Amino acid sequence: MAGRSVVVGVGHYLPKRVVPNSEFEKTLDTTDEWIRTRSGIERRHFAADDETTSDLAAKAAEAALADAGLTADDIDAIVLATSTADLTFPSAATMVQARLGMNRGFAFDVQAVCAGFVYALSNANALVLSGQARRVLVIGAETFSRIMDWTDRSTCVLFGDGAGALVLEGQEGQGTSDDRGILATDLNSDGRYKDLLYVDGGVSTQSTGHLRMQGNQVFRHAVEKLAKTAEVALERAGLTTDDVDWIVPHQANIRIIQGTARKMGLPMDNVVVTVQDHGNTSAASIPLALSVGKQSGQIKQGDLIVTEAIGGGLAWGAVALRW
Ligand code: ACO
Repeated sequence: MAGRSVVVGVGHYLPKRVVPNSEFEKTLDTTDEWIRTRSGIERRHFAADDETTSDLAAKAAEAALADAGLTADDIDAIVLATSTADLTFPSAATMVQARLGMNRGFAFDVQAVCAGFVYALSNANALVLSGQARRVLVIGAETFSRIMDWTDRSTCVLFGDGAGALVLEGQEGQGTSDDRGILATDLNSDGRYKDLLYVDGGVSTQSTGHLRMQGNQVFRHAVEKLAKTAEVALERAGLTTDDVDWIVPHQANIRIIQGTARKMGLPMDNVVVTVQDHGNTSAASIPLALSVGKQSGQIKQGDLIVTEAIGGGLAWGAVALRW
């Protein structure tokens, strides 16, 4: 027998305002055609002026709890991945805790940019396996629209806002790769690559700052590192890419998603793709894709899923889990 963190609920929330690529043609030297062909993005959601990351996160969490048939009283911990928290402190996670009416347990944020959800999932799994929590809400939520430089066509057309959440529950498994739940994780970072992707402001520099990215450099790292980390996670679970039902990748760019699947030897039929509708929602993109994938009937109980993500840091990683 072995402990496993099993996904028992999933949900998401997207802000109402949908912005098609054509909006950017009005203010920037860009075209719908360029954005579509270079990134695969067709539209994205942007939060309203008075809508914050914790608002999106709380709505996604409520949807995941409803899907699990649970209430906030059943949850022991909240782990929220974000780089765009409402306030410098407290954490967005504790704000969600209050919004849900959860008056016990503990909550904290994880900051690993686009790899944030993979980091959050791995840490939540460790909390469950070490007995510190039985049920954990794992949330990815972002309002990247707040850190865009709207004059920089090479970045502002790529990102969107949104939130997704999972409920993880500790259950007994057989200790084999047939078990439901998280089977293995792989986390990596290399701070030498800071200049490839960062925000040029923060508390200690006394500004909010804007996202800066050397997109083609990040692209080069992405395909190689993502295929590798996914394969490492699968190998730790005693599995290979042949066992995978779904790759649920971080949704940054369709060409990165296609390149990674190709490198792993899997057809696009085995990949959940939402980048066309959401853009890059950073830490929210994987739980959003899991939720959409379940709602659309693609992801079914028992399916073997590998999630992978890379982002600022650079930070990257993967989780192999059976749904
Ligand atoms: N419209 C028209 N032209 C554009 C636009 C635009 N919106 N943006 C850039 N261009 C131009 C560039 O100026 C450049 O022109 P030049 O050749 O005259 O200098 C040309 O298009 C090609 O630029 P590249 O950057 O080489 O284009 P590339 O094919 O690499 O695509 C992109 C750019 C989409 C940014 C791609 O590199 C990418 O997706 N990179 C990875 C992004 C990513 O995954 N980030 C990681 C996660 S994000 C996170 O962690 C927060």
